[in-house]
Amino acid sequence: MVPFQNLQPLAERLAPQMAAAAARVLASGWYVLGPEVEAFEREWGDYIAQGAAELVTSATNSNGNGVAHALAGQSTPQTWHAIGVANGTDAIELALRAAGIGLGDEVITVAHTAVATICGIERSGARVVLVDIDPRTYAIDPAAAEAAITQRTRAIVPVHLYGHPSDMTAIGRLAERHKLLVVEDCAQAHGARWNGRLAGTFGHVATFSFYPTKNLAACGDAGAVVTRDADLAARVRRLRSYGQTSRDSAAERGTNSRLDELQAALLRVRLAYLDEHNRQRRELAAAYRAELSEVELPFVHPLAEHVYHLFVVRHAERDALRARLARDGVGTLVHYPVPVHLQPAYRDLTVGVGSLPETERAAAEVLSLPLWIGLERRQIEEVARAVRGATPEVCR
Ligand SMILES: Cc1ncc(COP(=O)(O)O)c(C=O)c1O
Repeated sequence: MVPFQNLQPLAERLAPQMAAAAARVLASGWYVLGPEVEAFEREWGDYIAQGAAELVTSATNSNGNGVAHALAGQSTPQTWHAIGVANGTDAIELALRAAGIGLGDEVITVAHTAVATICGIERSGARVVLVDIDPRTYAIDPAAAEAAITQRTRAIVPVHLYGHPSDMTAIGRLAERHKLLVVEDCAQAHGARWNGRLAGTFGHVATFSFYPTKNLAACGDAGAVVTRDADLAARVRRLRSYGQTSRDSAAERGTNSRLDELQAALLRVRLAYLDEHNRQRRELAAAYRAELSEVELPFVHPLAEHVYHLFVVRHAERDALRARLARDGVGTLVHYPVPVHLQPAYRDLTVGVGSLPETERAAAEVLSLPLWIGLERRQIEEVARAVRGATPEVCR
C-alpha cells in the first residue's frame, strides 16, 4: 500500500516545534494579524529577496544542465513585501485588484490549472481568457498567450504548475512588449527557480497558497501576496482588512482575507525547512526517474529548477493504468482531469471542446504518483513495480 498523500510523517517529525509555536500563540491572547503574521511576512519576504538576487555565476542543476545561479552576498537583496492573506485564491484576487485590474479588463491564463486560479481572477471582476499550454512543461504557451492579446488585455497569470516554473524569459518579453501586468501563480512552486531566480520574483506581483499539501504548508488555509512594489503591497494590506486604513475609516471597498496568528507561527516553523524539503522532493523524483521507463517522465527545462510539488507522469492509457495501480494499492490522482473550459461552471467561457488541444490531451494523459516528505525508497520501488506490472497490460 502506498497512499497518494500522507502528511503524517512530517507532522510527527516537526511535532515538538509545531506544538511549541501553537502554544506560544494560544498563550499570547492575540489570534489574528499580530506579531506572528508580521514575523512570517518579514521572513517570507526575506526568503524571496535572497532568491531574487542578480545572476552572477553558472552551475549545474540536478539534471546535469548548465543553469545560472544567484551567488549569495554578491548583490544587495532588495526589499520584498509579503502580505499574508487567507488563502491562495484570495491572493490572486487581491493582487489583481490592488494593481487596478477589474471590470472590463481581460486577464490571460491557462485552463490546465486548479479552478482556484480562475476563481481568483474572476473575483477581481476581470474576464478570464484561457489559452493553451506547452505540452512539455504544462505551463502557459507564450505564443498562444500573445495570440490572445486584445485591446482589453491588462494582465497575464502564468501558473508554475506541479513545481516547474513557466518560461519567464518569454513571458517577461511578452509583457514588456504589450505593457501587461504579470501575476505569477506560485501556489505549487515555493522555492522553484527559473534561470537561477526564484519563481515569484519575475512578475510585478506573485501569489502563494499555503494549503496543507503545498511545499510550504500551513495546518489550515493560508496564502500570501509578494511584490517589490510598496504601493501595491500597501493596497493589498488595505483590501485584506475591509479596505480600511484605520479602525474607523474604509478608504475603499475591501474584503476580509486576514491571516491568523496560529497559521503564521506554524508557517515560520515550516519555512526553515523549505529548501531541505524541496531537496528531498528532488531526491524522490530522481529515485522515480531511475526506476521508471514505461511512462513519460516529467520534463525539466534546462533553465528550470523543479520543486516537484507533484510528480506527474504521462501515459496514453492513463485511466487503465490508474485503475490497475489502484488494484495494487498505489494511490494516484489526476491534476487535472477536466480542464477549466470544460467544467460545468465555465461553459460560458468562449472556448469549447477541441479549442485547447494540448490542454485536453494533457488532461487525458497525466497521472500524479505519490510524492511526499517521508515517502520511502522501498515505497517508490513498490510504485515502480506496480507501473511495470501494469504497463504491458494497459498497452495491449
Ligand atoms: C495553481 C493553484 N492556484 C491557486 C490555488 C489556490 O490556493 P488556495 O487553495 O489556498 O485558495 C491553488 C491551490 O489549490 C493552486 O494549486
